[in-house]
Amino acid sequence: MSGEVATAMFAGGSGPSASARPARLLDPGMCLTLRPMAYPRFFEMYRAAIKNTWTVEEVDFGTDLADLAKMTPAERHLVQRLVAFFATGDSIVANNLVLNLYRHVNAPEARMYLSRQLYEEALHVQFYLTLLDTYVPDHAERQRAFAAVENIPSIKQKADFCQRWIDSICGLERLDTAAQRRQFLLNLICFAACIEGLFFFGAFAYVYFLRSKGLLHGLAGGTNWVFRDESAHMAFAFEVVATIRAEEPELFDDGLERDVRAMLAEAIECEAQFAADLLAGGVAGLSIGDVRSYLAYCADQRLATLGMAKQYGAANPFGFLALQDVQEVTNFFERRVSAYQVGVEGEVTLDAAF
Ligand SMILES: [Fe+2]
Ligand SMILES: [Fe+2]
Repeated sequence: MSGEVATAMFAGGSGPSASARPARLLDPGMCLTLRPMAYPRFFEMYRAAIKNTWTVEEVDFGTDLADLAKMTPAERHLVQRLVAFFATGDSIVANNLVLNLYRHVNAPEARMYLSRQLYEEALHVQFYLTLLDTYVPDHAERQRAFAAVENIPSIKQKADFCQRWIDSICGLERLDTAAQRRQFLLNLICFAACIEGLFFFGAFAYVYFLRSKGLLHGLAGGTNWVFRDESAHMAFAFEVVATIRAEEPELFDDGLERDVRAMLAEAIECEAQFAADLLAGGVAGLSIGDVRSYLAYCADQRLATLGMAKQYGAANPFGFLALQDVQEVTNFFERRVSAYQVGVEGEVTLDAAF
């Protein structure tokens, strides 16, 4: 492409300033300027995410089916509901990313991270699809899992909560006013703190509870990687929030904080109702009260990250999550070996050609 053609292309329609570096992250436009880079932190996060690449094919579900067969009906109900939630959860997050986040976060290095996140969300969708196909052999039952967002009240309530927040800014083409920017911030905070940071973290806790009882190691193994991805997605979103706060501190007024607290309280209620449904049959070692404490603990962590005072003062009641941290480290090193071996195979093939 000649320089003139490129200039004409990028200048066409939206004016010559379309690719220019804006003064602030939320200023409308499609900035294309990577040098000088305004937000190197986002680029670093993108590069760190690339290093954490995994594939669904590496997850070994080998012993899970035998575990399912020996579980109590109440435990199987828990797993069935979890799988039904996972069936659509990451697709919802991916939709918000494309429809709302990518549109308004106006820095190419941040959009690179979001592109990577979108890939990871697709990977999570593939992981849970594989899980569903493995755990639920019956086709009609699989179909019901995907229909859970409509038919199972405790899952529908969570999906409706997400959809309401997607819709809340879908009609916003540009963020010109402070009110519009606050609306965007609420959407961003909702998906990081309430959906990835509470709905997903809540779901992961059940998986690690089951693993602490020696069950479903395939699911737990894949969950380790999804957990790490989701932690990174939250960290990126909170970094975007911190950047906006540094650039436009006036957006972070009492009204915004009140809205964030109300949103978190509603998310806890949704998730607590999901817990009541999951644990309806009574699962030994896991109480609705403990789940609620864990959710309150997570909510406090999110508030603290946002620079807001904690609200619930709850401690983490789940000792088995400490084990998760240890296993995560082991898992990480196992993965490095596996990734390295993939690289070695490539080199061997290259050498063979000489
Ligand atoms: Fe995800
Ligand atoms: Fe995510």
